[in-house]
Amino acid sequence: MGVIKIPQSSVDFFKEHQDEIFKSGNLSEGPWNEKLADKIKKISGAKNAVCVNSNGSGLVAFLLIFKEYYGRKDIMIQSNTMYGVKTIVGTAGYNLVKFIDCKLETLMPSFENLKNAIDNYQGDLNKLVIMLSDMGGIINPDIEKISKFCKDKNILLLEDAAHSFGSTLNNKFAGTFGDAGVYSYYSTKAIFAGEGGVAVTNNEKIGNLLKDFIAYDRFKQKMPIGCNIRLSEIQALLVYSVVSNLNEIINNKLKIAEKYMEACVKSKIDFIDQTKNYNIGNHYKFTIISQEKNIVEALPKIKTTTSKIYDYALGESKDIPKKHLCLPIWYGLDDSILKKVITELKN
Ligand SMILES: Cc1ncc(COP(=O)(O)O)c(C=O)c1O
Repeated sequence: MGVIKIPQSSVDFFKEHQDEIFKSGNLSEGPWNEKLADKIKKISGAKNAVCVNSNGSGLVAFLLIFKEYYGRKDIMIQSNTMYGVKTIVGTAGYNLVKFIDCKLETLMPSFENLKNAIDNYQGDLNKLVIMLSDMGGIINPDIEKISKFCKDKNILLLEDAAHSFGSTLNNKFAGTFGDAGVYSYYSTKAIFAGEGGVAVTNNEKIGNLLKDFIAYDRFKQKMPIGCNIRLSEIQALLVYSVVSNLNEIINNKLKIAEKYMEACVKSKIDFIDQTKNYNIGNHYKFTIISQEKNIVEALPKIKTTTSKIYDYALGESKDIPKKHLCLPIWYGLDDSILKKVITELKN
């Protein structure tokens, strides 16, 4: 439908610095990985940040660390998330014990949904991990309550922040609510650089284990697990160049979202608001919802859409795929697409 563009100033910054990498001969494990990790620490407020080659590789690494050093073996994930989240937990060799139900209003589990899942869990909470995915650009509104609950019960909480880099809840940055979190900079994400991720944690021990994990622990030679899931220097520079324009990218999308919101309000169409002052999103997706019936029947004139989040349910939340649609929203969205969508919303 359209082309997702990287801001020109990001491209210029990348071009300006790429020769430094070639001249230094430092194509991996070099200064751009360090600069990117420092930048992410500053932006997110996380105490530790490690660059990885994807969100998925970072999540697998955390799960393997939780298994080896914290005795974890069972996991719950939410019903409404990317299919790959299921393969991530399988890759890490976990028992997937439950898909937690989700609410249409947020596309994520509420505290009650999570509490229900825990109440019905027969296993040992000391062996459990809960991995929650922030959906569509906002952070799970109940995550503070969920995080406290998990801490009290000694459940490890992993935040899949693939969608939510740049979003905040009560001024706290995405990815920092659980024991660890991972961002994605994959091509279609809110803040995108082709490939790449950054893993964050406020836990010093987990952070250090991850740093050794990505180097196969080849210096200390103590860990039984580890794999090269590192980001190359060229890719670290590209992610750094894009992340430097985080605010410009989000503001550009906010302007599109504001136009959609105005049209939705006028036409009495429900949508997920990413501008509530306690829960500010990065506008990864603009989602409209229909509480009563199938959204295609409720809003037949809306034809200009992008991929849903998601058009399948991993668990029980089967009505979510049928009851939401996503409108086109990305950095540098073509004006003609915007106008077409507004016309369809008005109709
Ligand atoms: C919810 C969710 N989690 C994880 C991922 C994996 O991200 P990556 O492609 O960077 O591994 C994605 C996107 O692809 C996603 O949408």
